[in-house]
Amino acid sequence: PLVSMKEMLNTAKDNGYAVGQFNLNNLEFTQAILQAAQEEKSPVILGVSEGAGRYMGGFKTIVKLVEALMEEYNVTVPVAIHLDHGSSFESCAKAIHAGFTSVMIDASHGPFEENVAVTSKVVELAHIHGVSVEAELGTVGGQEDDVIAEGVIYADAQECKELVERTGIDCLAPALGSVHGPYKGEPNLGFKEMEEISGLTNMPLVLHGGTGIPTKDIQKAISFGTAKINVNTENQISSAKAVREVLAADAEVYDPRKYLGPAREAIKETVIGKMREFGSSNKA
Ligand code: G3H
Ligand code: ZN
Repeated sequence: PLVSMKEMLNTAKDNGYAVGQFNLNNLEFTQAILQAAQEEKSPVILGVSEGAGRYMGGFKTIVKLVEALMEEYNVTVPVAIHLDHGSSFESCAKAIHAGFTSVMIDASHGPFEENVAVTSKVVELAHIHGVSVEAELGTVGGQEDDVIAEGVIYADAQECKELVERTGIDCLAPALGSVHGPYKGEPNLGFKEMEEISGLTNMPLVLHGGTGIPTKDIQKAISFGTAKINVNTENQISSAKAVREVLAADAEVYDPRKYLGPAREAIKETVIGKMREFGSSNKA
């Protein structure tokens, strides 16, 4: 069934595993992620960025597509459709009214008081609709960052506590050194801060930039209260590789099913691997 993230993440946190958020990019991503979740008997979060929403034909199109595929595949595991990095109240409201079951309001780039104000407003609307809310503090590195290079700012623990108490959010993404896209070398995550923030907020924590984080760090993050891990780039890389292989092997191929079919299989395999690594397999 389509559900919010609230119960999914609280259960994950209580039982020492994390639920994966896998981002949608097109039809094949949607198919692959839903198939993987059902096969693994894993709860799953479908992440939709504003850009992916535009690319795929809008939030309503995505909700209808997901509903139809869930019916077609007899999906019985819990599925959340989640707005990823929502940039404004308006964008979150649009997703909620389109039928999303969860939203992220990412006001982490502005002043703290503005983050609290817009996040509170989103929570008020979302909770009327039974929709869960994720908020962010600090700066995730990489693409999301306007000032590239050394733009990674760690979330402040006291601000995390205050944001949670003043807004009523359901989960929190404290940026602690993670990066969107591939890491340059080994990631250096702030586990001490993560543990402190988890203790102060008692919230399921969210780890953005899940691509390229070694298993030992994934396990550490989960043990320090991380209950949701976002992955996109790794699926993009594995599917692009599959397409390249097919096209490189045969210059005569033109039917998209011939190269997007293997791309879909590659995504499915990548997602299954992550679900096992995060410990969410057989938890639905
Ligand atoms: O919000 C999306 C994620 O944080 C994805 O990060 O593309 O590095 O896996 P990633
Ligand atoms: Zn992210």
